[in-house]
Amino acid sequence: MGCTMSSDPSVDKRSLFSANGARASVSPNSVLALTTGDPRVFEPFWRKMGDACKVVIGGGDLMSYFSDVGNVCWFLEPELGDAIRRLHRVVGNAVTEDRHIVVGTGSTQLFQAALYALTTPAAAVEPVSVVSSAPYYSSYPEVVDCLRSSLYKWEGDACTFNKDGPYIEVVNSPNNPDGTLRETVVKRGQGKVIYDFAYYWPQYTAITSAADHDIMLFTFSKCTGHAGSRIGWALVKDKDIAKKMTQYITITSIGVSKESQFRAAKIMKVICDGCQNVGSTAAKSGNFFEYARVIMSKRWQKLREALQHSEYLSLFKYPRERCLFTGELNERLPAFAWLECKEGIKDCEEFLRGFDVVGRGGKAFGADPKFVRVSLLCGDEDFNGIIERLLEIKGIRNGN
Ligand SMILES: Cc1ncc(COP(=O)(O)O)c(C=O)c1O
Repeated sequence: MGCTMSSDPSVDKRSLFSANGARASVSPNSVLALTTGDPRVFEPFWRKMGDACKVVIGGGDLMSYFSDVGNVCWFLEPELGDAIRRLHRVVGNAVTEDRHIVVGTGSTQLFQAALYALTTPAAAVEPVSVVSSAPYYSSYPEVVDCLRSSLYKWEGDACTFNKDGPYIEVVNSPNNPDGTLRETVVKRGQGKVIYDFAYYWPQYTAITSAADHDIMLFTFSKCTGHAGSRIGWALVKDKDIAKKMTQYITITSIGVSKESQFRAAKIMKVICDGCQNVGSTAAKSGNFFEYARVIMSKRWQKLREALQHSEYLSLFKYPRERCLFTGELNERLPAFAWLECKEGIKDCEEFLRGFDVVGRGGKAFGADPKFVRVSLLCGDEDFNGIIERLLEIKGIRNGN
């Protein structure tokens, strides 16, 4: 049996439950805001590493705008370029040979750089359509339409896209918000593709092959958890596209913080040394991805237990895949829970708000409001909080 929730936010959902004969009162909770994918989950690992990841930057260091004037991406620190190539070799998740690396202030900036590179000089009067299959990452429409560009325009769900003319499809795999693996869905000659591999790392999914596409975006934020460094990188096959992406970043921010690049290179080195068991930090760090997988796996186990037999909420089941990195058959462990309300509840975001849990509703992702995305990358306290609330929701109906 389901329950129909009111769309009036002033109505307390718990009082509706009690009207339905369930538990009459629930202790007041603090609000749990789990709308963003702020990756605090890996913080304990890096705190434990202490000085092993420390970088020291003197007052006279890293002062120039320039890093490597002979390179297409002239503001890429060579140490970071080397560290990125090594990281992909160690993990096996992307081909880096014969690729240009463009560094960006997060992959958010690189996404914009790629849009610019793929649409200039403007060949048509009409802006180029940008699509991604729903549910898509909620930032795509925001970023694409932010400046009302005459170069490109958000056209929504790739699955229902039927306009003629040039288009760009964004493929996010594993996908935020629902954790599914994605490929292109629009199969037409005039299309270009941007692959967003923010979550193609062993803690979230099996590494099934080395991705090999023309434009691939990665972010330090979701790989290691260092979102605050704002480092992303693009692996780009075509030199002219890499040049134009570099030009976009030159125009918008004249490069990318060298302090951040320096720190990212150090952390990537520590990760690779740990995975390959070489160097002075390896014994202390161990294999970061194995550590991170264990954490994500425990979280998913707790989440599934909390939702088992729930009358109100359900979760996707993901297949297991053979992972080339771990050599094992691995479960998918997405960064977000994509919760679906069962029959009778029309708005899952509103439903959870009734229990002081704030997720992001399906509409922001081009999906039905019966879905809500809740971040699983939060710190332990918030994660334990969400599990408690989910158990509370289950308990209310069961009258426990
Ligand atoms: C799919 C996807 N792409 C890109 C980003 C942005 O990453 P960055 O922090 O590098 O800008 C995110 C962040 O949540 C994301 O989920």
